[in-house]
Amino acid sequence: MTKETMIAIIGGSGIYDIDGLEGAEWVTVETPWGAPSDQILTGTLDGVKMAFLPRHGRGHVHSPTEVPYRANIDALKRLGATDVFSISACGSFRDEMAPGHFVVVDQFIDRTFARDKSFFGTGCVAHVSVAHPTCPRLSDAAETAAKEAGITVHRGGTYLCMEGPQFSTLAESKMYRESWGCDVIGMTNMPEAKLAREAELCYASIAMVTDYDSWHPDHGEVDVTSIIATLQGNSANGRTLVSKLPALLGTTRADCEHGCDKALEFAIMTAPE
Ligand code: ADE
Repeated sequence: MTKETMIAIIGGSGIYDIDGLEGAEWVTVETPWGAPSDQILTGTLDGVKMAFLPRHGRGHVHSPTEVPYRANIDALKRLGATDVFSISACGSFRDEMAPGHFVVVDQFIDRTFARDKSFFGTGCVAHVSVAHPTCPRLSDAAETAAKEAGITVHRGGTYLCMEGPQFSTLAESKMYRESWGCDVIGMTNMPEAKLAREAELCYASIAMVTDYDSWHPDHGEVDVTSIIATLQGNSANGRTLVSKLPALLGTTRADCEHGCDKALEFAIMTAPE
């Protein structure tokens, strides 16, 4: 079945709106899970419907733990979003994934523990598969958009999602890199990716490298001042990347050939009471 595309962007640190949006309007969306991080900026870009949600809220008011992940995904779904792109800052565990580079991640290790992680439970139990938590079609578009924007982009990588708000200890950083084989680290992509799958939304994640966390012998430990310096260049690139997405995805889309939009078909275990 063909449906109208609505591209949703969940913008992380440094990205608080979209350039060039036609008919731009901040709209309030209410959900049964409470209020999302902020109003959602809607409009069209190259004729494609867009929705932009600043993950931390305008003014960066929600810490990674405090982001209302369920309300955010629910609000985007209610607005009619079909394709969700996460953009967020990350640390890197790989020499070749240098600050300023972007990584289109495809796997996650979820080390968060203080967040609501599911829409299900209490009378309606569902277990969705998140073996492949990102959508290859959207990841293709993200990679192409980054290349068109002249950004150095790495396709594929494992993102360690930590609770924060403190950065990792040196021992943790080395363990994630050497024993767990992670490529990047951040604080926000989980449970967001899991919830997008429960909501049957295609989801891709663009992680913008700001630092080498604390493992790198040639770089000092991670600190907010150096992150912010790199963040400014990254956010300009992130905005350019976003501007390329509508032309790549088009105004309509078919069912997801990877099944992201049918995730619940075999997942519900009990009916609501
Ligand atoms: N966000 C940006 N850099 C980070 C790091 N090193 N660890 C966790 N989150 C980050």
